Amino acid sequence: MAIKIKTAEEIEKMRIAGQLAANVLDMIAPHVQAGVSTGELNRIMHDYMVNVQGTVPATLNYHGFPASSCISINHVVCHGIPDDNKKLKKGDIVNIDVTVIKDGYHGDTSMMFEVGEVKPFAHRLCDVARECLWLGIEQVKPQATLFDVASAIQKHAEANGFSVVREYCGHGIGADFHEEPQVLHYAAQELKNIVLKPGMVFTVEPMINLGKADVKLLGDNWTVITKDRKLSAQWEHTLAVTETGYEIFTLRQGEMPFLPR
Ligand code: MF3
Ligand code: CO
Ligand code: CO
Repeated sequence: MAIKIKTAEEIEKMRIAGQLAANVLDMIAPHVQAGVSTGELNRIMHDYMVNVQGTVPATLNYHGFPASSCISINHVVCHGIPDDNKKLKKGDIVNIDVTVIKDGYHGDTSMMFEVGEVKPFAHRLCDVARECLWLGIEQVKPQATLFDVASAIQKHAEANGFSVVREYCGHGIGADFHEEPQVLHYAAQELKNIVLKPGMVFTVEPMINLGKADVKLLGDNWTVITKDRKLSAQWEHTLAVTETGYEIFTLRQGEMPFLPR
């Protein structure tokens, strides 16, 4: 199976889907406060997608996933299941990951929120994870490879004493939620064979751990946590390769590239 090259018509649909996904994060941001449950946040996002946007929440019932978003707190790496009994508290770091379908195409994005004041190392982890996303994206242009993307991410994470999760990765995206290629975030040699071409669309979504890279799947068969129970942070964008570089479909209001000084 080859990596699909999207037509101009498909790219336009993905631009719209990506924007709608970003709008969900902009909408939910003011609700991310100490005391709110992740179940409530999920409900607000679900209602917004379905009733305001007319989008389909892609995660709902995806391989049986039971919610319209993934909400992953502190040592949860990804795929946290929203829960009415799980309330945010001051000092938490939390990833909210949303994927919408509009007109048959997917937009997938996630970001970190800091609840109240968080510990300096937690704040730093969130910042570095975001820098990793942007340093990876900056590598995207025709003839570059996914090895370039992954190397930039791994280098920056490790230079800061953090580690990169290996078991989960970014992905091609389009009419299907998860398409080829697998966008690994660590410098695996086989990524040198994945040469970027205009019209490819994929996500970059590095998961960066404060401690060791190892993860563990909980008994619910979804929630992924760090083995050492230390914090993990993740940011995600959906982007296309263009003739000259890249176009990000999931930019939020006023979002700027966030590169290390
Ligand atoms: N949005 C996640 C991603 O970035 C996938 C979540 S799949 C689910 O690829 F089933 F866990 F919701
Ligand atoms: Co994704
Ligand atoms: Co996602």
